[in-house]
Amino acid sequence: MTGTALRLGVNIDHVATIRNARGGDYPSPLRAAQIAAKAGADGITAHLREDRRHIKDADIPLLRNEVKLPLNFEMAATAEMVAIAAEHKPHAACIVPEKREEVTTEGGLDAAGQHNRLSPIVRELVNAGCRVSLFIEADSAQLKAAASLGAPVVELHAGRYCELEGAAQQAELERITAAAREGAALGLEIHIGHGLTFENVKPIAAIAEAKELNIGHFLIAEAIFLGLGPAVQEMRRLMNEARGISQ
Ligand code: PXP
Repeated sequence: MTGTALRLGVNIDHVATIRNARGGDYPSPLRAAQIAAKAGADGITAHLREDRRHIKDADIPLLRNEVKLPLNFEMAATAEMVAIAAEHKPHAACIVPEKREEVTTEGGLDAAGQHNRLSPIVRELVNAGCRVSLFIEADSAQLKAAASLGAPVVELHAGRYCELEGAAQQAELERITAAAREGAALGLEIHIGHGLTFENVKPIAAIAEAKELNIGHFLIAEAIFLGLGPAVQEMRRLMNEARGISQ
């Protein structure tokens, strides 16, 4: 084995999107998390949005207590979400910006501009025992703000990289790579996520400083055709290949 392993966090939000379309209790996000765990995921990610459009409050204790993998709880920086994190104590809490009207998390958190507002929230989450991560753009000012806030982890937003093509995509990849290097030098653990697919994951997975990728929508979509276990296994295979890890 050469290269160092990269953790795969599987975001199961969109299993809940399908469940909620009919208002019943299937497909179950818990069952999806258990299948992802068996298929080689290293963590489960779930975003409890203010409008509860996918994950609901009752899913959180199930995912926290009945899955063997660490739970990464994605949350807006609100008193309501801090209280929920303090109650359930997920392994990690990833603070994301949240706009009610957006289809998905559109941009990174403005850790630099909202330093004073975020500071007590990061402190409360750390005190609750959560490993705090800030979902930010690949930008030097945001990295420095995350470090000064005392967050041990940042997740770099890969959304723009995933939407672009050709030279523009390459330039965005270089920006993310440089940010990963700068963040690691600041002592931050580097995660990357949003929009990743079988097609675009390898250059991101090859970034040496990255320790974890969080991937959701594509895996749940691909599960329709492949099944969730095989979709997770194929993502893992591509990530390993990108890092020169023999399978
Ligand atoms: N990471 C963060 C912080 C996110 O907000 C999301 C989307 O909820 C993801 C990763 C997963 O993105 P996608 O569903 O596009 O793979």
